[in-house]
Amino acid sequence: MLDIEGASAIVTGGASGLGAATSRALAGAGAKVVVVDLNEDLGNALAGEVGGRFARADVSDEAQVQAAVDAASDMGPLRVLVNCAGLGSAQRTVSRDGTPFDLKNFEFVIRVNLIGTFNCIRLAASAMSKTEPLAEGERGAIVNTASVAAFDGQIGQAAYSASKGGVVGLTLPVARDLAAIGVRVNTIAPGLIDTPIYGQGEASEAFKANLGRNVLFPNRLGTPEEFATLALELVTNSYMNAETIRVDGGIRMPPK
Ligand SMILES: NC(=O)c1ccc[n+]([C@@H]2O[C@H](COP(=O)([O-])OP(=O)(O)OC[C@H]3O[C@@H](n4cnc5c(N)ncnc54)[C@H](O)[C@@H]3O)[C@@H](O)[C@H]2O)c1
Repeated sequence: MLDIEGASAIVTGGASGLGAATSRALAGAGAKVVVVDLNEDLGNALAGEVGGRFARADVSDEAQVQAAVDAASDMGPLRVLVNCAGLGSAQRTVSRDGTPFDLKNFEFVIRVNLIGTFNCIRLAASAMSKTEPLAEGERGAIVNTASVAAFDGQIGQAAYSASKGGVVGLTLPVARDLAAIGVRVNTIAPGLIDTPIYGQGEASEAFKANLGRNVLFPNRLGTPEEFATLALELVTNSYMNAETIRVDGGIRMPPK
């Protein structure tokens, strides 16, 4: 079991939703959490709540993420990275009036969700490689966030599904690369989890209630805590490596 008591942990997208719940779970297990996000107000509030630090960084920016990794290493040996930062986008490859998908938008989604995830992995793993190894040479663990859209992409999800499919695809080769430094890598593919990603207010609540009807069992959206407990297990269970796990109540997304 990877002991994270007193170690530092980076959670990207840690200011909101899945990242916020994961930050709380890691802090509860004794880690010193660095919340990495673009949202300063929420990021500072969450960092204060969990007794950690906030580092404002765009996950796809090399220097900003390096600064966040340095801040984490100052708090204790960096042993944990959970990549939760991400965003969605809905656009058809060709819209009904024939307009093609906006290529800049496609690039942006890939940049944040896929390149951002890999940027954080490479810089955090480099810092982890310089820490003292624990039992069996273990140094740390990384958890990425993909989506069921990596497998069951819906109409309008070309960019989002490609970005998340990329995260699933890099899980095994990166786990193989990082075995040499004693760092495990796993990915969670969430289904529909109730977070601010679906917006807020009456229309969003109606939208989410409708979405929840497709879930096999239980017949509801998931909670951020149901993601966070799995993330914590993937961090601490030393025999979990190179795997992608769906947490989705059994949903298989229909075309739309
Ligand atoms: N909620 C779901 O149903 C669901 C399902 C599948 C996958 N996911 C994935 O889970 C992850 C977390 O989503 P969530 O539902 O908690 O959403 P959220 O919107 O509540 O949180 C995402 C956070 O990421 C931050 N962020 C966005 N771009 C960033 C960037 N470039 N650099 C740093 N931070 C950035 C945002 O500021 C926000 O705080 C995302 O990758 C999302 O694609 C969510």
